[in-house]
Amino acid sequence: MTAVGTTGGAGALLATMGALGLAPTAEAAARTAFSPPEPSDFTLTGRGAKKVVVLGAGVAGLATAYELGKAGYDCTILEALDRVGGRNWTIRGGDRLTELDGSTQTARFSDGLYFNAGPARLAQWMVTVDYARELGVPLEVFTNSNAQAYIYNANAGMTAPVRWRAAKADVYGYVSELLSTATDSGALDGKLTAADKERLITFLRGFGSIGNKAAGFAYEGGERRGYSVDPGAGEQPGEELGPVPSLSEVFASGVGQRFSFEFGYDQAMLMFQPVGGMDAIPKAFAAALGKNKIQLRSKVTKITDLADGVEIEYQDKNGRTRKITADFCVAAMPPHILAKTPHNLGPDVQAALATPTVNAAGKIGLEYRRRWWETDDNIYGGITNTDLDLATIWYPSYGYGGRRGLVIGYYNFGAQADAYAALPHREREKRAIEQGMKIHGEKYRDELVSSVSIAWKLQPHIEGAWVGWPSRTGAYQLLNKPAGHVHFAGDWLSYMIAWQAGALESARKTVTDLHKRVLTS
Ligand code: ALA
Repeated sequence: MTAVGTTGGAGALLATMGALGLAPTAEAAARTAFSPPEPSDFTLTGRGAKKVVVLGAGVAGLATAYELGKAGYDCTILEALDRVGGRNWTIRGGDRLTELDGSTQTARFSDGLYFNAGPARLAQWMVTVDYARELGVPLEVFTNSNAQAYIYNANAGMTAPVRWRAAKADVYGYVSELLSTATDSGALDGKLTAADKERLITFLRGFGSIGNKAAGFAYEGGERRGYSVDPGAGEQPGEELGPVPSLSEVFASGVGQRFSFEFGYDQAMLMFQPVGGMDAIPKAFAAALGKNKIQLRSKVTKITDLADGVEIEYQDKNGRTRKITADFCVAAMPPHILAKTPHNLGPDVQAALATPTVNAAGKIGLEYRRRWWETDDNIYGGITNTDLDLATIWYPSYGYGGRRGLVIGYYNFGAQADAYAALPHREREKRAIEQGMKIHGEKYRDELVSSVSIAWKLQPHIEGAWVGWPSRTGAYQLLNKPAGHVHFAGDWLSYMIAWQAGALESARKTVTDLHKRVLTS
């Protein structure tokens, strides 16, 4: 070990230790590079912890106060809403949802059911999972892809939904047939050696479940597509699902274009969710922060950078204007909301805050009196993908085999989300049901108990699902630096926009920047 350490440097040593299981792997090390501020940082340098006012009790704001709090910083969070979490919002029976125009919905969901209106999935490599561990939030598997769920591309002329498993069998099968034929006929001889060709064909025969050379490498369906009568006991071998569509029909259906989603670094299984609702994460942060650190229903009305600190003006829960001063501010609000908040941070900061575009997303939670997706369709979690304006239907990854259940009837973005947002809730429900019936039939309407819909652009103090930057230079870089005594944090300042992990990583970066500044000034 010593020899490795001296000749190869710390990197080689760590890699070797990693291989021996003694040190974190490079992947884990990248995620845990953050070291939280500690009280000893102050005692050793003779400095004192500072006062910080954090704007926004979303995931970034909560994590900022939590990490700074570890070293004894005196943090106060101002939050405009009457709850913590920001976009991390889990709606249960009794909760009220109000939109910008004042229209309200009251959730009537049954006990034990919940609707993750915002974030709903975590990838295993995300720092969110580490915070769940640290805060004692139990996780369970979230099923992001399911062979039993459906694909339905109405615009491509599909007349009925197909199961993911059948779509994959057909696409992989025909691609394998074509590529094997081309390879065997010499069409790829410029790219492949004789050995490459043999190995490629061996791979394709398994990958596509296709015939041998004598059979023309033909794809003819098979058990991967599923069964119309499942295999059983005695004399029941089952009946494979048919008929097998032609190659041309399969490609015309466009089903294959859906597959790449689940290859994404951020979307690949396994994925996780907190048991009982995503809001377990902000609630655990708030509990760790303790009482009186978070002032709810406190809307920031002015941010003033001073020579030696900051002054924040806000409207408290009684509508009174108040002021709070601190050494530093961490503005963990959405950029487009900050851009509407008076401040003296200068025109460049103002222009930067107004730079990102605001994206729309919407969801509807549908409670059903019966878990028909389980009993009738054998679907236990996962997502149906469509080209309908509902985009996706999500089956719950909890409560299997129970009585009632909550399906997400649409989760859509952009123009589709805007179209639903433009409707009152009842109309959104009607439209979602009409569309969903194309996949699930009349039970989709008849078994419905109640619903709640969210249009993120219409949520007060949030006014968007997430933002997008035209580039990561200029405005993005400017806001990743402090403006006077005001630092910024949020998923919008990360390369993981629209993920809690982005908010958490940004909070860690801001905490590190601020703490370094305090220790060196
Ligand atoms: N991160 C968001 C999602 O997974 C956009 O849907």
